[in-house]
Amino acid sequence: MELIFATQNPNKVKEIQNQLTENIKVLSLADLDYPEDLEETQNTLEGNAWQKADFIYEHFNRNCFADDTGLEVEALNNEPGVYSARYAGAEKSFEANMNKVLDKLKGKDNRNARFRTVIALIIDGEKYEFEGICEGEIIENKRGEEGFGYDPIFQPKGYDRTFAEMDLSEKNKISHRGIAVKKLIDFLLKYES
Ligand code: IMP
Repeated sequence: MELIFATQNPNKVKEIQNQLTENIKVLSLADLDYPEDLEETQNTLEGNAWQKADFIYEHFNRNCFADDTGLEVEALNNEPGVYSARYAGAEKSFEANMNKVLDKLKGKDNRNARFRTVIALIIDGEKYEFEGICEGEIIENKRGEEGFGYDPIFQPKGYDRTFAEMDLSEKNKISHRGIAVKKLIDFLLKYES
């Protein structure tokens, strides 16, 4: 089976292909000669994941999946959520995004937050959805150099280090995306057999 992953990011494709058998081949948008990012104009993570998967299925008639991730901060009514990438503006600056979250949380006791990933999968027209959640809190000052996005201000529950103070393999074991991807992989391996 071939599956199109609705992403332009070759690392995301590689990460999933590495966990599958040769019977399932994961291809990217580049493999379809589709050069652009897909539209994400919905106001929920689910909406965006399905928007991208539906687009691929409708335009290319190929089995496919798509993901969307957001940081949900409890005291900010689950902001930035679906707007995580461009919270502080269209330039998508990780620093500016983190500073905006820290500013908005100044003086607030409740610093609970979670990352949430949604994966939308379409196989032969059948739709399946997978979710991964990582609970944690927003710390007061950035720590760590690893990772990307909001990693330096997010400390997962039960840890005294931020995501940016973990290497990728440690982060993947507990992260929202790691959990959602594991559910997808388990499903595909069962589907195959
Ligand atoms: P995407 O849906 O994977 O493109 O993620 C959207 C945005 O959420 C990214 O631009 C980051 O700002 C943020 N984000 C997603 N995953 C992570 C993560 O693992 N750590 C930190 N920030 C993340």
